[in-house]
Parts: sequence; structure tokens; C-alpha cells
Amino acid sequence: MNDKPIRDLNADIDHILIDETALKMRIQEMAAQITADYAGIEDLLLICVLKGGYVFLSDLSRAIERPHALDFMGISSYGSGTRSSGAVQIIMDLKEPIVGRHVLIVEDIIDSGRTLDYMRRNLLARSPASLRICSLLNKPSRREIDVHVEYIGFNIPDEFVVGYGLDFDEIYRNLPYIAVLKPEVFAHLQA
Ligand code: IMP
Ligand code: MG
Repeated sequence: MNDKPIRDLNADIDHILIDETALKMRIQEMAAQITADYAGIEDLLLICVLKGGYVFLSDLSRAIERPHALDFMGISSYGSGTRSSGAVQIIMDLKEPIVGRHVLIVEDIIDSGRTLDYMRRNLLARSPASLRICSLLNKPSRREIDVHVEYIGFNIPDEFVVGYGLDFDEIYRNLPYIAVLKPEVFAHLQA
């Protein structure tokens, strides 16, 4: 295809923070909780925040034992660095109105809180019957805006993580675990 050497993603990993088994177990627990909490609700709608939420959505959705629909929203708040630009933008909107529906936002990580604060306010203005947030990861030490998140998978320290949907510069989303990159991977940013 081209002559560049093929990059070994695993070689860029400093350490694994959450392995596949732990992810699987915790997501089963979260799905069981959601299945119980939404008992009797017919029109549950999971809204996946793209791109980072796609792997989590896929596993969570399949573990929820209740009928539900899916929709997707593309949100951009990061450049190619590891810190949020602060400005949240909708780059792809939902396909359907959510008036009167029970909405659960599915997100990969809550960091400053800006993305989910924006999403919560934006979606509430569309008059859903209910609105809750489910985030696989949470970095509590980095919060700038207080957002109520009903379902949290793991609280993690203030480290930039990749894998299981999360990227650095659009790469590493396909790793099956959550990991911290080696410092030299970020080196070109500090240059
Ligand atoms: P917030 O708006 O600062 O809460 O950031 C939320 C978004 O930033 C997430 O949806 C992620 O896409 C991205 N993000 C935050 N922390 C990380 C990280 O450690 N690794 C990869 N992406 C991250
Ligand atoms: Mg991202």
C-alpha cells in the first residue's frame, strides 16, 4: 500500500489501566443496572456520542436486556492534542426528534465536563421524557463543570488514556483495553 513501516500500536503502550476482563465485567454490571432501572419503559433511546463512544455503545447495548433504539451524535471538543479546546460543537446531529422519549446518553469519558454539560442542555431543550448519562470513564480531578452522571463505569486518575474507542490523534481506538501511552508518543506535541 505504501512504504512506511507499519506501526505497532502495542509498542506505544506504557501500561494497561483497565484490561478486557475488567471492562467486560463492569459493563455487564452497568447493563444490569440499566435493565433494572428502565423496567416498564418502552421507548428507551441510547444516544452514542461519537466518535469515542462507539465501542462502549456496542458492548453496553448488547448487554441491556430491554428493547431500545439507537441514535448517534457527533461532537467535537478536542483538536489533535490531549486537552479540550473548550469549545463544544455538534458536527452530526440526531436523525430523529426525542420529544417524549427516554434518553440515555452513552459517552466514553467525562473529563472537564464541558461536552456532557453541553449535550445535557442541548438535549433537554428538545423535551425528552427523561434524560440520563452513562459514561464508561470519569476523571473527577479534572472537572470544571459539575455535571450529574447517573452511570459511571470507572473513576480514573488524571492521565490521558486510549483504547476501547478512545483515541490519541485518531489512533488507538481499536485497542481492546484502556491504556496509558508512553511519554515519547506525545513528544512531537511538545516540540
Ligand atoms: P470533556 O468535554 O473535557 O469532559 O471531554 C470529553 C471528551 O474529551 C471525551 O468525549 C473524549 O473524546 C475526550 N477525552 C477526554 N479525556 C480523554 C482521554 O484521556 N483520552 C482520550 N480522549 C479523551
Ligand atoms: Mg476524542
